[in-house]
Amino acid sequence: MVFQLDVLDDDNLHEHIFSRYVELERNTDTLKQDLGIQSRTDTTIEIDIEPPIHLPDIASLVLLDKDKKSENKKLRKSKKRDKNHKDQERYNIIIEQSISDLNSTISNNNSTTGYVLWSSTPFFLRWLLYDKNALPFRQQTTDDSLIIPPMYSQHTTNRVGIIELGTGISSLMAIVLSNHVDQYICTDQKGILNKLKYNIRENLNQITKRMYKSETLGMIKSVATTEIDEEDINPRRPIVTIEVEELDWETFKIGQNTKYLANLQENCNTIYILAMDVIYNEYLIGPFLETITKLREYFSDDDVEVKCLIGIHLRSQDIVTQFLESAVTDFHLPVTYMNDPILEQSRYSLYLI
Ligand SMILES: C[S@@+](CC[C@H](N)C(=O)[O-])C[C@H]1O[C@@H](n2cnc3c(N)ncnc32)[C@H](O)[C@@H]1O
Repeated sequence: MVFQLDVLDDDNLHEHIFSRYVELERNTDTLKQDLGIQSRTDTTIEIDIEPPIHLPDIASLVLLDKDKKSENKKLRKSKKRDKNHKDQERYNIIIEQSISDLNSTISNNNSTTGYVLWSSTPFFLRWLLYDKNALPFRQQTTDDSLIIPPMYSQHTTNRVGIIELGTGISSLMAIVLSNHVDQYICTDQKGILNKLKYNIRENLNQITKRMYKSETLGMIKSVATTEIDEEDINPRRPIVTIEVEELDWETFKIGQNTKYLANLQENCNTIYILAMDVIYNEYLIGPFLETITKLREYFSDDDVEVKCLIGIHLRSQDIVTQFLESAVTDFHLPVTYMNDPILEQSRYSLYLI
């Protein structure tokens, strides 16, 4: 079964928050209680994004000797599963963080959370890439109850552009998803962008499914990471354009210093606005919601579908309540909660708007 979308409105959102925090309480023994910084001491961190390991079913192996037929069947099944496992994409990404800036009171005008990687981002990527329930994000499904545009481009029929808000210094999401989309725009406050560009450059070798180019990184011509196979019937791999642009929610005006954003819909028919762990401070909720409202209005067009996917690390219940109340009541946004058993057991909630 794929994840379900529960519509949130004035009548049910408090019940939703209450039950989500009850669930959190129930899982308290298995969930980390920290703030959510991936590592708050290491300047260099290595993140592996890999398919989860399925341990062999020991009980069924014991039974094998008794029944040759079922032995063969099970072996065939496990070999197939092994092959699928090997064929799945995997990434090894090295990220330079700035712990001194994180702890500084003057860096980036004292807005320093972006100098490190936060745990919701790798968690979301692992779910998106490998979980069977996340399939509608990876490909068109026939499930009538859940019609969303896939986040992965489907050649010419679904050209996808991603705008990431509050990317931070880590290029994790940009590098992984650049393998699957046509355009990727990372945005954050000015002080964060140099280190973010550095982390994109250092991990470009992880973009293997596409050629890439980037004006902001000084790569005007498209580049391929791996040799194109001589036997490849279609040797022209698709191209992803990756750009980095300043976008501060508190001052954001479309068209003003947002060259790449403003032109996104010319090349895409699906735009995903992604934001991971950006709801943590009550003063930023209004400016953030205003930003996504402006982006939705700007891109809304008969030919372009715009979706916002927001991942929240569940810390203060008050902040989550303020965010959802404001999104639904003040901004009249069509907020849905992504109801899924794996997400439910985590410390994160995903909302699709
Ligand atoms: C908790 S961090 C999450 C970073 C990243 N998404 C991750 O998961 O590692 C919050 C991000 O929001 C950004 N941010 C905070 N205030 C902002 C604003 N006014 N405009 C744009 N970005 C902002 C920070 O710079 C930071 O990158």
